This record gives sequence, C-alpha cells and structure tokens, in this order.
Amino acid sequence: MKIFLDTANLEAIRKFNDMGLLDGITTNPSLMSKEGGDPKKVMEEITKIIKGDVSLEVVSTQYSGMIEEGKRLRQYGENVIVKVPMTPDGLKACKYLSSQGIPVNVTLVFSPNQALLAAKSGAKYVSPFIGRLDDVGQDGMSLIQDIKKIFDNYNFGTQILVASIRHPMHVVEAAKIGAHVVTLPPAVLDKMLQHPLTDIGLENFLSDWKKLKAGI
Ligand code: E4P
Repeated sequence: MKIFLDTANLEAIRKFNDMGLLDGITTNPSLMSKEGGDPKKVMEEITKIIKGDVSLEVVSTQYSGMIEEGKRLRQYGENVIVKVPMTPDGLKACKYLSSQGIPVNVTLVFSPNQALLAAKSGAKYVSPFIGRLDDVGQDGMSLIQDIKKIFDNYNFGTQILVASIRHPMHVVEAAKIGAHVVTLPPAVLDKMLQHPLTDIGLENFLSDWKKLKAGI
C-alpha cells in the first residue's frame, strides 16, 4: 500500500520523506491556506522534495478554468496530479486532462457511484473521504469496501486513495481491504510510529547496557 502525506507543511514532508515513508503528497486549498505564505513557492518546493505523485488542486469550478489551472499546476513537475472536484465540470476536465497525459485525482468522493463515474472519466485516483462520512454518522470504511469490489469487478485501473483519515485504525482497515493508497495527516503517521512497549523496551535495554560500563 502506498502512503501519501496529506499536508502542505514542508517540515513534516521533509521529516517523513527522510525516513523513506512517503510515496506521494496530497494537498487541498484548505491545507495550503493553513500553511500561509506564497502557495506557488510551497508547491514548487513540495514537487522538488517528493519524487512520487503530488496532488495539487484546482480552485476553479468551471471546466475551462479547471483546464487552464490544471495545465499551470502541471508545470510544477512531471509528478503533479491535478486534483478536481467530483462535479460534472470536474469529470469533463478529468476526461480532457487524462487524454492529454495529465493524470487526475477526483476528490470529494462520498458514494460508490461517484467513484464509478470518476473511474469511467479516466481518473488515476479517486479520493473517498472516510472521516467526513464517519463525522455525519455513516460508515466511511464501508465505502472503501464497496469501491474496491466495483473496481475489481470491472478491472478499473483507477486507484483508491483513501482520504480524510482520522486515526491509525483507519489505515489498518484500509490496508486489509486492499486500498491502493492512504493519505495521512502528519499526526496520524506520527501515531503509527509509536508503541509504548517500544519505549519501555528501549529504556530497559539502555539501562541494562549501562550496568556493563562498556562501550561498543
Ligand atoms: C484529501 O486529499 C484531502 O486533502 C483530505 O484527506 C481531507 O481530509 P479532512 O476531512 O481531514 O479535511
């Protein structure tokens, strides 16, 4: 399973990239706005640091604007994936950009049918938002199960990019279903690294070694 980081924070991107954990990055207008500064510089820097796919989102809601922005965003690097919303204009832009060799991530997907339509439009990725479904009392993870079954039934090449992840168990569940990608907020990836028994075990090893009063 591929791991993307869901952030525009350069420090977090460098930190996890240095551990060899990142296959890509997803951003959105809210994440860009949270970091402040000049978004162009941030996008330029992210695409320099990360070799894998970097999703950069259009802010236009009209087809022609999406195409224009998509082409501009793609200039940040060959690894840029243009992110468009799951709307009629978004799907039209997805079809066009994909036909031009510009890969697309269709975002804000909340139903199996939306995922099916995004795949038909030629999307490289679909992004179902599971945490936001959980937030409104629906079972986000069952959406991933449904999409996986549909894509497998018809051999769609579109990858399921599980988004809006809130905690480490979401990752375990997505991996068990066989989703292709999870995109994680840095805080979730931090939690996945940790286990109290690792900390206790290390503390014990070090204090036992000290008793030897020897070097390595
Ligand atoms: C996906 O690409 C989105 O950026 C993201 O996962 C949204 O998550 P949120 O519901 O935590 O904002």
